[in-house]
Amino acid sequence: MSRCFVTRELPGSALDRLRGEHEVEVWPDRSPPPRDRLAEGTRRAAGLLCLLTDPIDADLIAACPDLRAISNYAVGTDNVDVAAASARGIQVGNTPDVLTEATADLTLALMLAALRRLPEAEAEVRAGRWRTWEPALLLGRDLAGAGVLLVGGGRIGRAVARRLGGFGCHVVIAGRGDALADLLGDADVVSLHCPLTEDTRGLIGAAELDAMNPTAVLVNTARGPIVDADALEQALRTGAIAAAALDVTDPEPLPADHPLMGAPGLLVTPHVGSATHAAREAMADLAVDNLLAALAGEPMPHAVNGADSLRGARSD
Ligand code: GLV
Ligand code: GLV
Repeated sequence: MSRCFVTRELPGSALDRLRGEHEVEVWPDRSPPPRDRLAEGTRRAAGLLCLLTDPIDADLIAACPDLRAISNYAVGTDNVDVAAASARGIQVGNTPDVLTEATADLTLALMLAALRRLPEAEAEVRAGRWRTWEPALLLGRDLAGAGVLLVGGGRIGRAVARRLGGFGCHVVIAGRGDALADLLGDADVVSLHCPLTEDTRGLIGAAELDAMNPTAVLVNTARGPIVDADALEQALRTGAIAAAALDVTDPEPLPADHPLMGAPGLLVTPHVGSATHAAREAMADLAVDNLLAALAGEPMPHAVNGADSLRGARSD
């Protein structure tokens, strides 16, 4: 039996499986544990099950001598210093695949909502401003037949591409190393599906937004810092692009008085890409599977630092 620290209650019954085998402490609040409480809980633990809102940095890892497993309840692991964990022989796991379709669905919802101006349209009705059917009321743009540039051709990018095939879109997938500059100008929609790394931080800045079509829509369901928030605010205000639909922002949450919040054409949702009952319960199952495996001395079924990156540390 090992000690585990879990930074939030999770949907479904997966945590009961963990409690059945280990001594489990679960952070009880709806908001993330503050840094000192995260450190305190993790310091005593062999297994950590954490959320994307928990920064698991090198200092925290260094202060946890017993830690053997970090299981992130997310597919992205940019909140974890994976190199620092690997150097200590600590396995790091994530929850791929089970959230791919849910996130791709939300991406399509955001594309359609932005292209057809749904937030504005709904506000018109609710405010009692809608008087009658009009030929030119709230005209938007078609997704059918649109040119869509997907930045990132991983599982989620490919799942979005499959859906867009059904809309008759012209889909271009830009992978790592492809020059975006040549592709941005041809797209009606640019949608981000790459992980946040040092290479992708600020990938969409002023120059990229300027290269986009003035009628184009930017969609981000990946990670907020991939887009330069100040440059995006400018681009929306000057009409360099028509709209942005963001499920992720930098910072997150975006404060109500943040300049970007008031920019025209902004649609923002609270990081709900994977927020379906099925996806979040399946993520809990994978996160628990990862932790149970590592604590049993086995490889995690979904490790982001495989045996190769751990071997050096283990043989020390
Ligand atoms: C959510 O953003 C995830 O990475 O799972
Ligand atoms: C993440 O799941 C990706 O590969 O897009």
